Amino acid sequence: MPTITFITAEGKEHAVTAEIGRSVMEIALEKSIPGVVAECNGSAACATCHCYFDPAFVEAIGPIGEHESDMLDFTASPRRPESRLSCQIRVADALHGMTVRIPAVQ
Ligand code: FES
Repeated sequence: MPTITFITAEGKEHAVTAEIGRSVMEIALEKSIPGVVAECNGSAACATCHCYFDPAFVEAIGPIGEHESDMLDFTASPRRPESRLSCQIRVADALHGMTVRIPAVQ
């Protein structure tokens, strides 16, 4: 299973093994990573699973959808080029070694 490292807004690192096919949001909740709220439980309707994804993995993560991009315009923490909704990102082998930074507020 790939390893993903979550980094909290305070800089604390949590390296976890992630099951392929699950969403990054689901992994964060399962592993009790603080700062991922996921109010809509993965429906891409709340933007409280917003995270900053490692730019080195942009191709492995895949392109952003129009709806996801629209939702990211309403995040509580600033949207950045590496912003994605973690509920829309599926774990795959190609994401091994990726870091995911959690914003200060959701
Ligand atoms: S969990 Fe609501 S948008 Fe991702």
